[in-house]
Amino acid sequence: MNRHEKAQECDRKDPLAQYKAAFFHPENEIYLDGNSLGKLPLKAKENIASLMQEQWGENLIRSWNEHWLDLPKHLATKLAQLLNVNAKEVLVGESTSVNLYKVAHALIQSGHYPKQFLTDSLNFPTDNYILDGISRECALTKPICVQYTTDLKADLNLLKEQIIEHPGVICLSLVSYKSAYYYPMKALNLHAKEHNSIIIWDLSHAVGAVAIDLKETHTLAAIGCTYKYLNGGPGSPAFIYLEDSLIPHLLSPIQGWFGHAKPFDFSQDYLPARGIEKFDAGTPTVLSLAAMEAGIDITLDAGIKSIRAKSIALSNFFLDTFYTELVPLGYVLESPENEAERGAHITLSHQASWRICQCLLQGKEKRPKIIPDFRPPHYIRLGIAPIYTTYEDMWHTLERLKEIAQNKEFEQCSNVRPTVT
Ligand SMILES: Cc1ncc(COP(=O)(O)O)c(C=O)c1O
Repeated sequence: MNRHEKAQECDRKDPLAQYKAAFFHPENEIYLDGNSLGKLPLKAKENIASLMQEQWGENLIRSWNEHWLDLPKHLATKLAQLLNVNAKEVLVGESTSVNLYKVAHALIQSGHYPKQFLTDSLNFPTDNYILDGISRECALTKPICVQYTTDLKADLNLLKEQIIEHPGVICLSLVSYKSAYYYPMKALNLHAKEHNSIIIWDLSHAVGAVAIDLKETHTLAAIGCTYKYLNGGPGSPAFIYLEDSLIPHLLSPIQGWFGHAKPFDFSQDYLPARGIEKFDAGTPTVLSLAAMEAGIDITLDAGIKSIRAKSIALSNFFLDTFYTELVPLGYVLESPENEAERGAHITLSHQASWRICQCLLQGKEKRPKIIPDFRPPHYIRLGIAPIYTTYEDMWHTLERLKEIAQNKEFEQCSNVRPTVT
């Protein structure tokens, strides 16, 4: 059996194969960018169409009481199930950046931890900007950013040493956006606790991709987005998780009316809600909230453990041939080799990375177009979303990467990059 036949056989035996049909697929295209923006669930389209007509068009303001006010809580309950926490520990709304601002500000001002932020060079830039901004606003010393010699992995010994030296409020991405490095969450939470510190985990590249148990890992605070592996839609609302016992000690830096104990009393004085709702600020974004439910439902139905198992199997199918066929052509693996240290995407590089991305996007003769993404300085990210990625997709990708390098097709492509890559 050749590699192509093997891929087709794996697809036939795939227990998650049925879920591909739940999404919209443009023709003749392989989408490997679900780690940036997930695909459109067909049910989301239906939900939005009926909401627009019936709830907005016909029912108007009455829909707040009948449907919309409870929507964030309804979705928080589903996300809580995915993260193995209580529904009252999750809040849905705003963007990841805004949520990090609220949580980091609240923790640093709580008096429970030293007033020092710490992050690392694998974290997503917005997280580091937010911590820097809060430090300036609150006249704190600048955040410590632990620098590693590589983007591939964190140096855990160095990170732990820095936590001992600079205890306080730490922010790390559970799966790093560049290399997909997957941190040992529990060990780091316990280390932080032992040294009077707390970690806010950014779950953006992890939720819907790896099995996350926030209780088992002793996680106290997290934030994350829903538009990647949860297929919530462009700019879909993000979430906050705060462990129950922490909530009474925290205050949101944005005292909006939706975080008030009784918003519809229209009191002149601010009285924060008792629960995690105190981190709410303004009117919920109803259309985006309604669009994100279908993607979360599909993930819950498929089961995150099965999704993770298929993600590893798809990655291994690709990597098995990568070393023998792509490395000799100049490709380098920029993700950890060990599957336990890797999230769902695979990062590669080549001296012609950006131009190779363009060749993939253009497709060729019998080959489909392939949509990866590119991150500077030279990373090609292949976002594997097991809910709709197939083994045959991975086979086509390997073959195409091989052809492009063997025939130096990239020499025909331009070096100019658009804004979103
Ligand atoms: C790890 C991580 N954190 C935060 C963000 C930014 O989130 P937002 O733009 O939704 O605030 C991203 C965006 O891709 C991300 O990958």
